[in-house]
Order: sequence, then structure tokens, then C-alpha cells
Amino acid sequence: MFRSELPSVVILASGSGSNFETLVNKSFEGKLRAQILGLIVDKECYAITRAERLNVPYYVLNKPIWENLEVLLGNLKPDLIVLAGFMRIIPDWFVKKYYLKIVNIHPSLLPAFPGKDAIKQAYNYGAKVTGITIHFVDEGVDTGPIIFQKALQTEDNWDLEKLESEIHKLEHENYWRVLNKILNEGFKVENRKVVVGG
Ligand code: GRF
Repeated sequence: MFRSELPSVVILASGSGSNFETLVNKSFEGKLRAQILGLIVDKECYAITRAERLNVPYYVLNKPIWENLEVLLGNLKPDLIVLAGFMRIIPDWFVKKYYLKIVNIHPSLLPAFPGKDAIKQAYNYGAKVTGITIHFVDEGVDTGPIIFQKALQTEDNWDLEKLESEIHKLEHENYWRVLNKILNEGFKVENRKVVVGG
């Protein structure tokens, strides 16, 4: 594959892949200054259909997932591993090997509503403010150092579907911007505090 001078990423997904598609489009538009080396999935999912349509190479991981992913990453050598709806808990040895190289997006204001179905958790809880969190991955579930958060004030008349669509809108508006910054402006982490650029 042709390697540009740009920093490179792989994107890992297990589901619809709407964040993956947005990131690819932003890189095609030159707004996300990164080369997307490929989509990596752990099962058949709609994200593959999007990759085919966008002409982005994709890889389906077979078991043992993490060992095979390690080999694939060794070949592709991305600067950053971007999780976008990758529905697996990463084993400790893998996180240690790639610490501060794996970024995740989570659809709530962490530490509220970690884990699965975060949008539904916030909805059922009756949260008036929720949002999104972009963070580095550590050994816990959605506990890693926070890079970026954006709050969303909910309206009392929103149903779950409306909340989901507003959260996804926020994700699509912000994930590429944040990745662009950490890839092109650098960052440092002091204790848990992530300082981007500068
Ligand atoms: C997003 O809500 C993301 O925050 C979460 O999984 C969802 C993935 O959506 N981690 P999509 O597959 O990108 O449409």
C-alpha cells in the first residue's frame, strides 16, 4: 500500500461503522490529516459494507483475536489504533504493549455510564446532561485518561432514538478533530491529565 507522509491510523469496529465512515470521509477531504490504513473488524458487520463502498482495505480477525491483531499491527505499523464501536474488552498485555496508542470514543460523559449501551443507560437514568468522551484505553473498562469531552443538554421530550441521533452527531463532529490534533500536534499525559498540543 502507498504510504503517505501523514500519520497513519487503523480503525477497529464491530458494528454499524458510522464513525469509521466519517473518519474516512474527513481524511479524503483532507480535514483529518491522517492516512487510514484500513478497517479491522472482529466479525461480519455493516462497517465492512462501508469499507467496500469507500474502497478502504478491511481485515476480519479470526481467533486468537489479540495475537492475530498484534501480527496485523506489526505489519501495518499505524501511529494510532482508533476504536470506533469495537465491542471487546482488551486484555491487559495488549493494552500495556500499546498504551497511549489506542484511542476510544464512548457515548457518555465518563465516568458516568461506562460499558455497554451507554446512551440507553443515560436515557433510562433520566440524565439531563450527557455527552461523549474520547479517551486513551487503559486496563479498565472506559477508565483511561480523558482526551476530550463534550456535553449534551437533553430535552425532556426526546425519546431514546432522538438521544442516540444527537449523540452520534456529536461523535461525528468531534472524533476526527480530536484525532487530528493528537496525531498532528502531539500530547503529553501528566498523571491522568491529557494535554494536547503546545
Ligand atoms: C458509538 O456510539 C461509539 O461511541 C461507541 O460505539 C458506537 C459505534 O457506532 N463506542 P458506529 O458503529 O460508529 O455507528
